[in-house]
Amino acid sequence: MALSTSKQITEYKLAKDLFTRGKDIILSPEGQQMKKFTQHGTTSVFEHCVSVAKYSLLISYFLENRFHIKCDRTSLVRGALLHDYFLYDWHDPDPAHRIHGFTHPGIAMKNAERDFGLNDIERDIISKHMFPLTLVPPRYRESVIICLADKWCAICETFKIDISSYLIYRVNYRIGLASGEFTINREPETAKES
Ligand SMILES: [Fe+2]
Ligand SMILES: [Fe+2]
Repeated sequence: MALSTSKQITEYKLAKDLFTRGKDIILSPEGQQMKKFTQHGTTSVFEHCVSVAKYSLLISYFLENRFHIKCDRTSLVRGALLHDYFLYDWHDPDPAHRIHGFTHPGIAMKNAERDFGLNDIERDIISKHMFPLTLVPPRYRESVIICLADKWCAICETFKIDISSYLIYRVNYRIGLASGEFTINREPETAKES
């Protein structure tokens, strides 16, 4: 999505902002479980949530730079990362998954509350992200942003349009650094992009 803002936002900076705000979730074994499940096409739930966090951040930068509308970006990122934290394979032909579209926001919210704790904005983001399917409209601007970003990402993933692979690579790179999997002193893109 080409959002032109007065300040240039690189994928590197987006990944850094996203990782900093969501690292408790991203680095936790619970959050990493989302890599085991497929969301749309060949995209994992983890990749989908990172992609939604990316576009939510982009929308929030745009709103702030153009209209001076501020968002709680940490709740935005945490809500994006946890909005599909339902932790099962919804493609499984289990009859319980037939109404996944209606039920998974509630399941994701319960799981996220149990594993990470949530504030009011994060609860609203997760429980209303399927609006209008879930009838009750979002209460906060952060929830509206996630609703839009989620639909955009779902469409692109379904039609195999690559919108986030570089950012996902950058986030995984940071996971590797934080877990000691990689041991270098400096990220190669830092010099040219920051
Ligand atoms: Fe969802
Ligand atoms: Fe989603």
